Amino acid sequence: MIEKISTLISKEEIEQKVREIASQIEKEYEGKDIHFICVLKGGVVFMVDLARAIKKNVYMHFMDVSSYGDDTESSGNIKILMDLDEPIKDKHVIIVEDIIDSGRTLSILKKLLLSRGPASLKICTLLDKPDRRVANVDIDYTGFKIPDEFVVGCGLDYAQKYRNLDYIGIISFEEE
Ligand code: IMP
Ligand code: MG
Repeated sequence: MIEKISTLISKEEIEQKVREIASQIEKEYEGKDIHFICVLKGGVVFMVDLARAIKKNVYMHFMDVSSYGDDTESSGNIKILMDLDEPIKDKHVIIVEDIIDSGRTLSILKKLLLSRGPASLKICTLLDKPDRRVANVDIDYTGFKIPDEFVVGCGLDYAQKYRNLDYIGIISFEEE
């Protein structure tokens, strides 16, 4: 099988959107410290791009989670593969994600992080695939709403590949 990738969102469109979200966050967090939480691995590219477009200090935190039993109905639980190494109590936190698809992971993660008492907690995602939503998630900052296609690039992978593409592409498969 040959993997083919067709552009859905160009590098320039992404750069423009990153600048827009960055300036919105800058305005809304005036006088406050910003703490980004990146959900590994997909969120890392967008988080770094966004942090670099913000003209004040941004703290970066990392977490790795996986959902329990993907084959069953939402089990209402996630497994923390790597937890934050600092408390977020009384901090202004923004979870930065690559894509929100079913919303399962993020709705549970949000509850978990809220139980740790942050001063505020918002969600920022580069992509939103609303057609596939199962669990309700309030998204505060969205880059692009996309159709129900499997996409790669800007942190998103197919079998761990293509995360470093500087555009978002739809992957398709053709016989050799
Ligand atoms: P969910 O919102 O809990 O379903 O989880 C979304 C996660 O599934 C994302 O963080 C991605 O890791 C992965 N995912 C969903 N859609 C895509 C896609 O189109 N390309 C690559 N990964 C995806
Ligand atoms: Mg992800």
